[in-house]
Amino acid sequence: MKEKNTEKNAEKDDRMEKIVSLCKRRGFIFQGSEIYGGLSGIYDFGPRGVELLNNLKREWWNTHVYQKENYYGLDAGMFKHPRVWDASGHTSGFSDPLAECKKCNTRIRVDKVLNSINVFADEKMSEKELNELFDANRDKIKCEKCGAKDFSSVRKFNLLVKSNLGDFTSSSSDPVYLPGEACQGIYLDYKNIVDSLQPKVPFGVAQIGKAFRNEISPRNFLFRVREMEQADTQLFIKPNENKEAYERTKQEQWNWLLSLGIREENLKWHQHENLVFYAKDAWDIEYKFPWGFDELEGIHDRTDYDLSQHMKFSGVDLHYTDPITAEKYIPWILETSMGMGRLFLAVMLDAYAEDELGSETRVLLKLSPKLAPVKAMVAPLLKNKPELVSKAREVYGALKKEIPQIIWDDNGNIGKRYRRQDEIGTPFCVVVDFDTLTDDAVTVRDRDTGEQERVSISELKDYIKGKIH
Ligand code: GAP
Repeated sequence: MKEKNTEKNAEKDDRMEKIVSLCKRRGFIFQGSEIYGGLSGIYDFGPRGVELLNNLKREWWNTHVYQKENYYGLDAGMFKHPRVWDASGHTSGFSDPLAECKKCNTRIRVDKVLNSINVFADEKMSEKELNELFDANRDKIKCEKCGAKDFSSVRKFNLLVKSNLGDFTSSSSDPVYLPGEACQGIYLDYKNIVDSLQPKVPFGVAQIGKAFRNEISPRNFLFRVREMEQADTQLFIKPNENKEAYERTKQEQWNWLLSLGIREENLKWHQHENLVFYAKDAWDIEYKFPWGFDELEGIHDRTDYDLSQHMKFSGVDLHYTDPITAEKYIPWILETSMGMGRLFLAVMLDAYAEDELGSETRVLLKLSPKLAPVKAMVAPLLKNKPELVSKAREVYGALKKEIPQIIWDDNGNIGKRYRRQDEIGTPFCVVVDFDTLTDDAVTVRDRDTGEQERVSISELKDYIKGKIH
């Protein structure tokens, strides 16, 4: 049996608790529908969170679309023809194993619970295999809610979320599903992209799209949710030309994570032994979450599975014709797929730090300035001195035109304002003091070192711009 890290060991490390609390306290992440008691597995990105998320998306788009040759962006509609999920294999093969406590009806995700007692299992195993493993270990598994050891047998539950789109009787046996994975939109528009833009293989399509999964036990904050956003690239290549391109793609994804400032020692590779139905080879980049290394991004060699299936189910010819040799083939696909929520969580965990500055302990997010939700805070040293306030307003107004992600904060003493900005990862605090009135310069405080520098107002914009990209 192979030992596997489990999401259940989060209690070994209290960083999750601290991050969850910071995210709420400072407006990064809120529980969805909180005033109604919350909705499990659904989170909202608050004012600071949406900025960080957008910065991550922008960085991703820059690298995966703009800096590449022959890569095309896409934003496909979420709802798709019901046959799409038959063709993709999701209606039949996209399920998680579940057992129910006979005493209190709590449902457990069997593969995860087996992992937590160091028994290797995953959702790709058959119901029979999972039942054998579960039965052999029943004495070690108790209900986390009531403590009973009396569970039903294991059943696999489909993860697709149904809608009643276009069904006015609410009794359709052929529902329109919400997307189980965002990438299907790319396969459906492959022909449109080939016909309209005539890209030459190899070419890529990139998309950031929503996906929904009826996860049995959403847990660990943003790590396992029911509504997520996936940033996907699909590289269309010639059949059998996958090896080199796959290695290159893997390395590029690794390098991109490093470019965000994520520490390399917190990343590692994991190759899947038990492959999901569409993949010929699959590697994850794992991040060292508080419960251990776990999947951050999946990189999959999908061969011609997707286009062949859609060709079979739709009846539309999806062959590609080489414009020079006239050779016809179904392109193979190399996929990269990353949950933006998981990336957000990894970036927050990686940036979280506590240190001593002066004689005080402080919490700070050492976010790369290009990701920081706020690039600079501008403030007068004292808010009851009109001459300082009006000068600071002038500086703020001029800077905001050039760098929109800056804020004004005159609330509380300057020390408190610095602490607040440290906690949200603001790289610079700009303070207008009495000297400003004579030297036309401001104090710029650096988040990480706490050191202050005098910068003339005329150079301030370039000074900050030069450091935030
Ligand atoms: N199109 C391929 C695909 O969907 P996947 O491994 O199921 O593959 C890709 O998902 C990525 O989406 C994962 O690496 C993870 O980052 C994210 N992801 C998957 N399920 C998730 C969930 N329930 N909550 C948050 N992120 C999830």
